[in-house]
Amino acid sequence: MEIDFAKQLRGSLKVKELGLHIHFFDKIESTQDYALSMAQNDSPSGTVIIAEKQSAGRGRMGKKWISPKGGLWMSIILQPRFTSRKISLIQFIGALAVGDSILEMTGIVCTHKWPNDILIRGKKVCGILVDANFEGDKGGTVVVGIGLNANFSTQELFNSATLEGCSDVTTLRDEIKHDIALNDITKLIIEKLEHYYLLLEDGKTREIIESWKQGSEIFGQRVTVNDGNNVFNGRALDLDDSGALLITLADGSVKKILFGEVKVIYAV
Ligand code: BTN
Repeated sequence: MEIDFAKQLRGSLKVKELGLHIHFFDKIESTQDYALSMAQNDSPSGTVIIAEKQSAGRGRMGKKWISPKGGLWMSIILQPRFTSRKISLIQFIGALAVGDSILEMTGIVCTHKWPNDILIRGKKVCGILVDANFEGDKGGTVVVGIGLNANFSTQELFNSATLEGCSDVTTLRDEIKHDIALNDITKLIIEKLEHYYLLLEDGKTREIIESWKQGSEIFGQRVTVNDGNNVFNGRALDLDDSGALLITLADGSVKKILFGEVKVIYAV
């Protein structure tokens, strides 16, 4: 199974850099941690790690990521040829690649939740995790982790004893009522990620941000943002060129938020 998956994927990919080397596991603790350790050993940029299941998948902000068979659990090692200032935009190109691929395969238009979630009907179907090891402008390594809830039902997540932060979650199976070809969506995501990665290298920062914004429903809305230390209330204004969220506070000042959880406050 694993050999077929990796072999077929490698054979079908139309890429210059991403996916030229693919490592497939039927089970692993975390593709992200494995990729990070590989990256330390100078694995080529574009190396992809995929696992059928993860026993210790990681999400953002120290959360667990439940990863049963049927999902796409993938990490990609990148050695960007651009400076560290653009690293924060890698989560947006990941989200764009996944959103475009879901649209192409299922016809479903996803929305983006800042900074790194992909939603269907307001429920999270995919998360992106970016780990970077960069030394100023000297370059470094980035690992992009993609967790896509695909061919299993949400019920399977709710049945998990280790469930954490799984409200407002969905899976592709729950949305389209059948399974999708994991090989095909993986191929699309890698190809589209390469496309956006090349745009980023090419300096098309604002285009990437504007494309991401088109898929987001928060701008102009009243929001509350919890960055782990403080909660800010305001109106979502824009993203700056580094992808930070700008919100207008009640006193008219603009607050720049680098990370956190955003919730839209709907009037009742
Ligand atoms: C999030 O919190 O939204 C990000 C989730 C990222 C999960 C993926 S699954 C593949 C890779 N391996 C991990 O351990 N995490 C990422």
